[in-house]
Amino acid sequence: MPESITITDNRTGNSVEVPIVDGGVDANAWSKLLPGVWFFDPSFGATASTSSAITELDGDNGILRYRGYPIEQLAEHSTYLECAYLLHHGELPNKAQADAWEYDITHHTFIHEQLRKRFMEGFHYDAHPMGMFVSTLGALSTLYPEAKEIEDPAVRKQQIVRLIAKAPTIAACCYRFSQGLPFVYPDNALDFPTNFLNMMWRIGSDYEVDPVLARAMDVLFMLHADHEQNCGTTAMRVVGSSHADPYSSAAAAAAGLYGPRHGGANEQVVRMLTEIGSYDQVDDFIAGAKKGERRIMGFGHRVYKNYDPRAKIVKETAYKVFEITGKNPLLDIALKLEETALNDEYFVNRRLYPNVDFYSGLIYQAMGFPIEMFTVLFAIPRVAGWLAHWNELLEQDQRISRPRQIYTGEARRDYVPLTQRG
Ligand code: ACO
Repeated sequence: MPESITITDNRTGNSVEVPIVDGGVDANAWSKLLPGVWFFDPSFGATASTSSAITELDGDNGILRYRGYPIEQLAEHSTYLECAYLLHHGELPNKAQADAWEYDITHHTFIHEQLRKRFMEGFHYDAHPMGMFVSTLGALSTLYPEAKEIEDPAVRKQQIVRLIAKAPTIAACCYRFSQGLPFVYPDNALDFPTNFLNMMWRIGSDYEVDPVLARAMDVLFMLHADHEQNCGTTAMRVVGSSHADPYSSAAAAAAGLYGPRHGGANEQVVRMLTEIGSYDQVDDFIAGAKKGERRIMGFGHRVYKNYDPRAKIVKETAYKVFEITGKNPLLDIALKLEETALNDEYFVNRRLYPNVDFYSGLIYQAMGFPIEMFTVLFAIPRVAGWLAHWNELLEQDQRISRPRQIYTGEARRDYVPLTQRG
């Protein structure tokens, strides 16, 4: 059986045979047969926008791997910083490489004082932290003009280290500002998740980060580090393809993540569970979703048509966190919602399962994060994934992203002066 497809233009009888390579067919080969006829795929549901060697996602079978390593093994044995190294370098680091990477990241965690004092503190007192985060990533580009030299691998590496290192500092800064609390500087003696929690919560000198909570934070960072060509990462690649600097591209990616259909869903899940309010209301809520009145936030995924493997790990992590923080009272509503939906034919037929956002918000809330911070918590580690894709894109030397459209508007018509319009 040849590994190819044949497409025939019935208007002319011309055919073209296109090989199937790595599960894809080259659209250029089709285009040669069909000049001026475009492939209509508005949300890219059937389009591979790139080839990539970073993250493998098999949504039918619930598989997620970074550079070949199953997410379950990484979540159990690795750390976020090691995963970030893996995403960027393609291999797990040896001891010397891991030490050097950690040292580099640790020594780039500070942010410019002007950025914090003038830019970040200029926001309105009730600014949404994700809005602050998006803007601050973009503002970093003004501090590092050399970042525009995107063709130089050493310059790229420098910005990658900076962004991974500064993301938690910016995130903590957004939170402290929203609470009117003094900023806590990064502490180079602490590991990545502990440093972040310390910047978030320290008031005075007697605060110590609970290692169970630091590990839970690190597991969540690992689970969120990359997810191939999702909305935010696609934004990163599209903007990056114009050769914009990585800070501007990352701001675009973060803006994509902000939406409630994407990374903003974790915030919406807790709002939804709070609105449901009690165990007894779950059935009514689900009935409304089935009538199309609302969506169950944290359920469904464009790619996963099976249980999101990250959701399983988040659920297990939730129980570990609740041993320290006490159980989040919304957990019982979430469990009932999940159980009811998974046994309901509406959800079964549409293959709708909990996604990564379904339980993560419960953990964040139990740890004391305000709801507005949830998407920022998602964005901190996703910075590593965005940058891995950005770097890969530049190494692939891809052309600028520029899709076509099917024009459905008015045909040519002549301008009518205002006085002659009805
Ligand atoms: N609750 C109820 N019904 C749903 C849900 C949901 N959460 N998600 C999809 N459906 C239904 C749709 O109504 C549709 O039904 P129909 O065929 O009768 O019209 C069917 O399932 C298919 O839905 P689509 O919108 O075509 O699925 P799509 O792949 O475009 O959307 C998305 C995926 C955006 C994630 C969607 O499932 C959703 O809105 N979920 C809730 C928001 C959410 O949790 N987002 C986070 C995703 S994970 C992430 O980004 C990190």
